[in-house]
Amino acid sequence: MTSRLATLPDALVTLGGERITTSDQWVQTRRPEIVQLFLESVYGKEPVQRPDSLTFSTEAKAAMKGAATCKKVDITFKGPGGVGTIHLLIYFPTQVLKPVPLFLLMDIRGSEKADPEQNTSSESWPAEIIVSKGYAAAIFQVSDLDPDNDDGFQNGVHGIFDSTAEPRPANAWATMSAWAWGASRVMDYLETDSDIDAKRVAVVGHSRGGKAALWAGAADERFAMVVSNNSGCSGAALARGKIGEKLANINTRFPHWFNGNYKQYNDKEDELPIDQHMLLGLVAPRLLYVTSASEDSWADPESEFLSVMLAEPIFHLFEAQGLGVQQFPQPDSPLHGDKIGYHLRTGKHNLVSYDWERFIEFADRNMR
Ligand code: GCU
Repeated sequence: MTSRLATLPDALVTLGGERITTSDQWVQTRRPEIVQLFLESVYGKEPVQRPDSLTFSTEAKAAMKGAATCKKVDITFKGPGGVGTIHLLIYFPTQVLKPVPLFLLMDIRGSEKADPEQNTSSESWPAEIIVSKGYAAAIFQVSDLDPDNDDGFQNGVHGIFDSTAEPRPANAWATMSAWAWGASRVMDYLETDSDIDAKRVAVVGHSRGGKAALWAGAADERFAMVVSNNSGCSGAALARGKIGEKLANINTRFPHWFNGNYKQYNDKEDELPIDQHMLLGLVAPRLLYVTSASEDSWADPESEFLSVMLAEPIFHLFEAQGLGVQQFPQPDSPLHGDKIGYHLRTGKHNLVSYDWERFIEFADRNMR
């Protein structure tokens, strides 16, 4: 380990100094401790999990020239401050025995891409490819939970569920956790749909969506696979020793993404009680897939890879080998290991068909 990581917290030592050597100890002691640390110092605590008011309404039609059925699902919730709805869209392959596994994209790019009938060339959400491989392809807009701007937490789920007491606590939930909360409400629906195998759902996100997908999948163990594409700072990449974007950059430009407490670590990454390898480790023993892009120095590919390496000992507790290599790979040489996948794609910060094809290959091997 390089000296720039000298202050890295040991994922396998509890706050009380006890070394974790078994999966039981991890599950009972260290995992809950780490979830709590992330809630308190990074994402913030949600005031409610599944609200009693949650309802689902569905409408189905044929799509993709008969290759798929498209289900539109409105997931509606009410709180003291009003009503909100997640507009989930699912394409089911028609030629495949149900229930089917599913890829869920937490979309950050706008709904015009969310209809393959209108935009068949969407590289970032190639629903036709996903369906042709026997998976359901589902998508929702994270803005349904909270629009991506700094409005003092007035709109979205914060306005609906938060107490109006002032001042807002420094550990109150912020936008990333609102988006992740939405993925869990989608999972609440998926568990009720008999066409879907809710035990084989992969949650996927790109960039800021990748940061949210990691927290969603880390915290909600119902997701069988978690995919973080080019998620960088406060996503897969370690905060300590990172090049490109730093905490001070992200917290200044996007103050609404993380909670109030996170700001105290600007330029003080070494004082964080966690680092992002511990977030990746929370996915164990489920499937984890992390990607980088060779020209994405803002995200820091090597730091994303190192973080995966440092998460591996947690997978080892569950007898999973992980990637099984130590070397940062060449571009376009995917590493599909035991429970963990990683690839470095040639090119820019983006989510493209190359990435999706690798996710599907990995899921074919491990989630079938
Ligand atoms: C900005 C931000 C990144 C983020 C990216 C995105 O570049 O600094 O942290 O990942 O936007 O979401 O596209």
